[in-house]
Amino acid sequence: MHFALRPQLHGHETFAAFAEAQTLGARDLIFTQRILHKTFMQDSAAQVLFYDDFCDGEPTDVAVDEMLTAIRKMDFDRLVAIGGGSILDSAKVLALDSEVDVAGLFEAGVQPSRKAGLILVPTTCGTGCEVTCVSVFDFPSIGSKIGKAFDAGFADHAVLVDEFLSKIPYPVFATSSADALVHAMEIYLAPKATPYTDMFCMAAIKSILEGYMRIVEHGRESIQQDARAYLIASNMAGIALANVLAGGVHAIAMHFGSVHHVPHGEATRLFLPPVFKIYYRKAPEGKITEIAQLITEILKVPQDGTNPFDALDSLLAKVVPTKRLDEYGMTEGDRRPYAAKVIETQQRLLVNNYVPLSDKDIAAVYTDLM
Ligand SMILES: [Fe+2]
Repeated sequence: MHFALRPQLHGHETFAAFAEAQTLGARDLIFTQRILHKTFMQDSAAQVLFYDDFCDGEPTDVAVDEMLTAIRKMDFDRLVAIGGGSILDSAKVLALDSEVDVAGLFEAGVQPSRKAGLILVPTTCGTGCEVTCVSVFDFPSIGSKIGKAFDAGFADHAVLVDEFLSKIPYPVFATSSADALVHAMEIYLAPKATPYTDMFCMAAIKSILEGYMRIVEHGRESIQQDARAYLIASNMAGIALANVLAGGVHAIAMHFGSVHHVPHGEATRLFLPPVFKIYYRKAPEGKITEIAQLITEILKVPQDGTNPFDALDSLLAKVVPTKRLDEYGMTEGDRRPYAAKVIETQQRLLVNNYVPLSDKDIAAVYTDLM
């Protein structure tokens, strides 16, 4: 058994309070989006590099290569990445002490040290990647997103700033928080889960589901009151993720998201209900009953034989609506080749499944969502 909590954690209400606490100055390089910088950081003396000058969606290997070329010409002591998962994942690689490109960095056994301090500040409440060492990039030439854990990818400091959730667009909030829910639910069931990851996962699941119920009961305004709770929940799920990888939902989402250009949180949210319904059907005893019980309590599921994962599906349909797979461009004939591709490219994640998923199971997941 092994459990580690690497970065120091900090929480601040505002960017100004964070900047003062970390004494951000001219030797720091803020890596963020233009809109975030304009909204929250205009008074900062730190240097700045904009993610959106290289990429307008999730990072590809090609875009990160261009970021590497740019940042290697800059002189700074600390890299301060402020953004969603795309920006934080890119920053972990940008802070490495190396002269090779992304393809070289992703080769097995390549583990450069860090050339600068690294501070990661999430502006969404989902990926938890401020506390992990994994970077996930899209490799269009392979047709899949691939993740790699870098030993030096752990930040020195992970900082939760409430203010950054104050202007988050609802769809970004919805899909990112759903991704945190997926992390917590998948890792709770993973064969390598420990009592420590269990504790963080259960707390995250409870907090997010209670928040979702408040959205249903009191409206979307409740997100602002719950901002810190969502940031902490996604961070807790991230702490679990730093120790145990996610499983089948992520495996299927990684491939689908790459082929149909679907943002990560939207893709994982899509596949959560059908995969968990298969788990619950195949192995209704064991740890999944603890998640089922928690869902039953928080969602007030009637004790009349209603499947708690059907109730979860209905809640997600209200809070994090998505489309049918054919609306993303997938066809019936794609199911078997997609399933084969998931099994071919995502073994790193599939080994963490609660129960094994065959190619037929994965094809059935697609059928459920067509
Ligand atoms: Fe995720």
